[in-house]
Amino acid sequence: MLENIAALLEEVNQFSSSNKDEIEKFRLKFNGKKGILNDLFEEFKKVPNEHKKEAGQKVNALKQSFQQKLDNLKNSTKTEQIFEKEDFTKPGFPLELGTRHPISLVKNRIIDIFKSIGFAVADGPEIEDDWHNFTALNLPEYHPARDMQDTFFIEKDPDVLLRTHTSSVQIRYMEENEPPIRILAPGRVFRNEAISSRSHCIFHQIEGLYIDKNVSYADLKQTLQFFTTELFGKSKIRLRPSYFPFTEPSAEVDVYWGLNSETDYRITKGTGWLEIMGCGMVDPAVLQNVNINPDEFSGFAFGMGIERIVMLLHQMGDIRMFFENDKRMLEQFKSL
Ligand code: DAH
Repeated sequence: MLENIAALLEEVNQFSSSNKDEIEKFRLKFNGKKGILNDLFEEFKKVPNEHKKEAGQKVNALKQSFQQKLDNLKNSTKTEQIFEKEDFTKPGFPLELGTRHPISLVKNRIIDIFKSIGFAVADGPEIEDDWHNFTALNLPEYHPARDMQDTFFIEKDPDVLLRTHTSSVQIRYMEENEPPIRILAPGRVFRNEAISSRSHCIFHQIEGLYIDKNVSYADLKQTLQFFTTELFGKSKIRLRPSYFPFTEPSAEVDVYWGLNSETDYRITKGTGWLEIMGCGMVDPAVLQNVNINPDEFSGFAFGMGIERIVMLLHQMGDIRMFFENDKRMLEQFKSL
């Protein structure tokens, strides 16, 4: 019997085929009802006790080898079937290339413009405390101007909140650095606003800050004029008196867009002028809050909403589109 098993083991090991019928025949020969393995188990019962151990091991080894061989053959025929069905010479599916978001594109353009006149980029946290977002910016508690910037509070007393503007980065930067300071702070900001085509509870701003000796309002106007010429190709601007607690005097910047097309009439409401940002001379009280001597230093600041600029540049009518991640909208910016 043992010699017989050795020969059968050899047969199993030698067997190879990719033909389904042959593999089935091989299976039946060994493992069918009247197959070799069953015969061997019958024969095994008659083996004298002293040889049972050795014979048992051999039969089991044969069974295992057979099973393994069968599994292997089945697996390889499966792969072959796939190869037969699929056309592997077909071109593959292209991986889609991503595009930069229009907000990033415009943000980078604005950064490049200001970099060319010596502004560096600064960063600050989106979760702020009351001091950096309000109090140090001359917006004390109960100041009515706080109402315009209602936000999301994470904790109360002491207040921890989502920053309502990037002006908070001014404070952080001035606390850590001595003048001369020339920074640009882009980032995400949050306000408790009803969402509509014109306003959203999340948006982006870019803040600018310049502090040095003898910085004047003329410097502010000249800098903004350079910026609007570079970004929009429009150099006619006006500074309309306004109010911000952290600047004195304060102004809104309007760009003369012109009235050359129907769109110009629509977006400027027939005036030809478009408001693009807020600005002003940094209030001496703000400088004092960050231990900069207002008698020695002065400076200007400005802040603009990036979405608004993108909407102007690309004639987009709804701010919600920036956050919907609709690829049909985003892909239009592929070539920029
Ligand atoms: N922080 C203001 C806002 O969110 C924008 C702003 C206005 C920033 C005037 C400035 C500034 O730095 O000087 O509405």
